[in-house]
Amino acid sequence: MKTVPAPLTGSGLVDTFGRPLRSVRVSVTDRCNLRCQYCMPEDEYAWLPRETLLSFEEINVLVGVLAEYGVDKVRLTGGEPLLRRDLPTLIRLLRGQASIRDIALTTNGMLLEEQAESLCEAGLHRITVSLDTLRPDRFHTLTKRDMFDRVVSGIARVNEVGLQGLKIDTVVIKGFNDDEIVPLIEYGKTVNGEVRFIEYMDVGGANAWVKDKVFSRNDILLRLEQAWGPIEPEQEHGSAPAQRFRLADGTTFGIIPSTTTPFCATCDRSRLTADGFWYLCLYARHGLDLRGPLRMNDLATVRERIRSGWRNRIDRGAEERKRLESSDGRGQFIELDELRQDPRLEMHVRGG
Ligand code: GTP
Ligand code: 5AD
Ligand code: SF4
Repeated sequence: MKTVPAPLTGSGLVDTFGRPLRSVRVSVTDRCNLRCQYCMPEDEYAWLPRETLLSFEEINVLVGVLAEYGVDKVRLTGGEPLLRRDLPTLIRLLRGQASIRDIALTTNGMLLEEQAESLCEAGLHRITVSLDTLRPDRFHTLTKRDMFDRVVSGIARVNEVGLQGLKIDTVVIKGFNDDEIVPLIEYGKTVNGEVRFIEYMDVGGANAWVKDKVFSRNDILLRLEQAWGPIEPEQEHGSAPAQRFRLADGTTFGIIPSTTTPFCATCDRSRLTADGFWYLCLYARHGLDLRGPLRMNDLATVRERIRSGWRNRIDRGAEERKRLESSDGRGQFIELDELRQDPRLEMHVRGG
């Protein structure tokens, strides 16, 4: 069992369940150059208007205010964050904030080969690359793009340039890639990356989600035990969604069982959309507008929204979704019509 992390002594800001605010996932663009079927199955979306997108300076200011309330971890996401021009500039700005001790990036790897070096030079601490299959044909089926080689070259480059903390994120879909769990662990060893298997989630536009396609944490462990024998759990570290394990040969890996075993009880993460709306849960229907007051130079209102927003936070989205299963009411999270009216309800807009 995970325990709720102790409230921060500094800001002391905790939500209604005593959960501190510690992390923000910053989406720097809602665009993506792949079309993973569990995330962005459509070709076209209602894109965020360009003039609403936060500049790097604006993001840096908001992260600075969030840091006053306890945030010390930033993860840059998208869409695909490397589509945002000159991302290292943002990393350099964030590195200038003493209270931010961890800057990570989640990318699909498409543009990594050419950008890895400058990301490393800018001071990125850790990188996670999404890779769901080692088969080029399946990669195409899943992402609708023939770009498997490019992603693999990008991952290879991570080691060459000396970027640290490589993780490989794999969404496991029953009947699609569950037979690749063992090969993916082997691949992870060759690239010095820790593989994490993510249970398929019923988020936003993942409209092909059905419970039957979820390959659960226990299914994953069983499959790996068949290949490698007994698996040892690693010591838990606070609020990260991944449960970590060790194989008999010493290889570590993670499982993110958000669907069957939600980690809401210890969730300390928030999300900032590329257009400056602050969400307190992956499954939240509404976010708080920080862009409005920011652009009016009204930081007092930004602070007040963050403070009262987090204090009043009651979200336990993944747990609520799971509860629906007992009434057989767990299907797609948001209907397509509603998604078109509010693009921020999409997973790729709210930072994966
Ligand atoms: P670190 O702990 O910083 O390494 O990152 P992480 O473990 O949070 O990993 P990452 O941010 O890459 O998230 C991995 C996956 O966890 C995501 O792709 C989602 O599938 C899932 N996840 C991330 N955030 C949330 C969340 O707020 N709620 C739930 N239920 N799942 C999440
Ligand atoms: N279920 C689980 N993980 C998902 N991601 C996107 N959509 C889903 C989903 N429906 C993950 C991707 C990527 C991160 C940005 O979010 O695999 O690692
Ligand atoms: Fe793009 Fe990532 Fe979504 Fe795939 S999971 S479509 S790479 S944002």
